[in-house]
Amino acid sequence: MSMGPYSAKVMDHFMNPRNVGVIENPDGVGEVGNPVCGDIMKMFIKVKDNIITDVKFQTFGCGSAIATSSMATELIKGKTIEEALKLTNVAVAEALDGLPKIKMHCSVLAEEAVQAAIDDYLKKTTGKGLPGFKPHDEPLQEH
Ligand code: FES
Repeated sequence: MSMGPYSAKVMDHFMNPRNVGVIENPDGVGEVGNPVCGDIMKMFIKVKDNIITDVKFQTFGCGSAIATSSMATELIKGKTIEEALKLTNVAVAEALDGLPKIKMHCSVLAEEAVQAAIDDYLKKTTGKGLPGFKPHDEPLQEH
């Protein structure tokens, strides 16, 4: 199914998001938000031997935020922490066959939610968070 500027994959992940929910006793949890639209994304991870064995998310936001968080969870599940940290918002959008330009900022939330969960995991396990990690608190662009 396709709808206007949205790819079939975006629609699929919006209508049937993967890995929605909460992980009890997560090894890491991160919450990020976009101050312009007010959308919020929360990501939970389970980590064993440096591998992300489980990941779930809750997104209170637009369809593109839901689709990108869903795709991001699929892309990092089973990956090492280092691999998950390399996931960019552009890669998430590409895996969804693209997003309309004015919706690219929504994919930034997905990238940041992954990093925030890993930041939390690293703080808990090593006492130190992700070097240089700071979710944006300035509007990325108008929408
Ligand atoms: S994340 Fe807010 S409009 Fe998409």
